[in-house]
Amino acid sequence: MYSFLSEESFALIMPGRMETVAESGTVKVADKVKELRSKGIEIISFSIGEPDFPTPGHIVEAGIEALKSGFTKYTPSAGIPELREAIAAKLRDENHIDAGANEIIVTPTKQALFMTILALVERGSEVIMPDPAWVSYDPMVRIAEGRPVPVRADEETGFRLTPELVAEKITEKTRMIVMNSPSNPTGAVAEREDVKGICDLAEDHNIIILSDEIYEKIIYDAQNYSPASFPGMKERVVTVNGFSKTYSMTGWRLGYLHADRKLIGDIQKIQTHSITCATSFVQKAGIAALKGPKEPAEAMVAEFRKRRDYVVGRIGEIDSLSVVKPRGAFYVFPRYHGSMNSEEMGEYLLEKAHVAVTPGSSFGRFGEKHFRISYATDMESLKRGMDGIAEALESVPR
Ligand SMILES: Cc1ncc(COP(=O)(O)O)c(C=O)c1O
Repeated sequence: MYSFLSEESFALIMPGRMETVAESGTVKVADKVKELRSKGIEIISFSIGEPDFPTPGHIVEAGIEALKSGFTKYTPSAGIPELREAIAAKLRDENHIDAGANEIIVTPTKQALFMTILALVERGSEVIMPDPAWVSYDPMVRIAEGRPVPVRADEETGFRLTPELVAEKITEKTRMIVMNSPSNPTGAVAEREDVKGICDLAEDHNIIILSDEIYEKIIYDAQNYSPASFPGMKERVVTVNGFSKTYSMTGWRLGYLHADRKLIGDIQKIQTHSITCATSFVQKAGIAALKGPKEPAEAMVAEFRKRRDYVVGRIGEIDSLSVVKPRGAFYVFPRYHGSMNSEEMGEYLLEKAHVAVTPGSSFGRFGEKHFRISYATDMESLKRGMDGIAEALESVPR
C-alpha cells in the first residue's frame, strides 16, 4: 500500500534551507540551445566554462600509469603525501604562502569552496562577495544558512572588489569575504593595494578570507597576489585553487585548499564525511601536472590572449556594446544598451545570431545589462559568432 504525503506534511519534513537557493540562471539558455539544435540549427556556444584544449599528454600518461599499477583504492583523506608536498611547494614558491603539506586538503575545487563555507559559515553570519561573481558562492552560503552580502563591482572600478566597497558592507555579523581574482565572469584582476586593503579590513574586524584563485595562471599583463602571502594573514585566509583551468582538467575533478591548522580541522571533518578522498589515480596525475613541463599551459594562455584581444577588438566596433578589457580568465563581460533584460538578450542572440552567451544576471543582480562571452572556443567560431552578434545587435530593439 502506498501512502502519499499531503502538502502540509511534506513542508514539515523538508528543511527550509533550500528555499532561497536559486537554480542556475543558465538553464533557460541551455534548454533553448537544445531545442534549436534538435531542429538542426547550428549554434555557436560562447557559454563554455572550460578550456577547449586537451589535458596535456604527460598528465594523461601519469593517470593511466597509476591505474595500470593498481593505484585504485582509498587514499589518505586529505590526499597522498607526495601531492600535498608538491602543492605546498608550489604555494611557497609561486604564491609566497608559508604553506606546509599538513595544511593542504586535496579535493575537487568546487568541493574545496563548499566545504570551507559549510565548515566556517554559521547560521545568520554574513559573507561579503563580489557581484557579479561566479554562480555558486551565493547558493553555497545559503545552503550553510549564512547571508550573502553582494558588493557591486562595476565598470567604474574595472569590476575590481576594492577595500572601500568592502568596508561599506562590514557589520559585526560579517564572517567571511570571498575574493576571486582573476574573476569569473568579468576577468578583473585585483591590484596589490586591493588585496592589501581587504586583508587589513579582515584583520581589523576578525574576518576570514576565502580566496578562489582558480584562474591564477590565466592572466595577462597583470600579477596574482595571494591574500595568504601578506604578513599575519595565513591564519585567516583559506586559499582555493585547482587543476581544471590551468591544465585543462575539468573532468578529472581535482583541486585543493590551503588553510592554517586552526581552520583546517573542521574543513577536514567534512571531507572525511562526504567524499572521503579525491580519486586516487587522479591525484597521481596532479603530481605530474605540478612537476611536469609548463609549456602546454603557457601555450594555452598565449592563445587565450590572442582571442581576448580579438573579441575585445570586435566588441569595440559595436556601437551598442561597451567593455572593460579583462586581464584574466577566459571571459569578456560586455555591457549592452537597450531595454531588454539580460535573459531576454541571451534568448535574442540565440534566436537571431545562433550564438549562446550567458546572461549577466546569472552572476548576480549587478550583472544585469551584461552578457558573458567565453572565448574558450576556436578562433573560427569566435569570428563567426562575433559576426552574428554584431549583425543581431544592429537591429536590436532600443
Ligand atoms: C571562479 C570559479 N571557481 C571555482 C570553479 C570550480 O572549478 P572546478 O570545476 O575545478 O570544481 C569554477 C568553475 O568554473 C570557477 O569559475
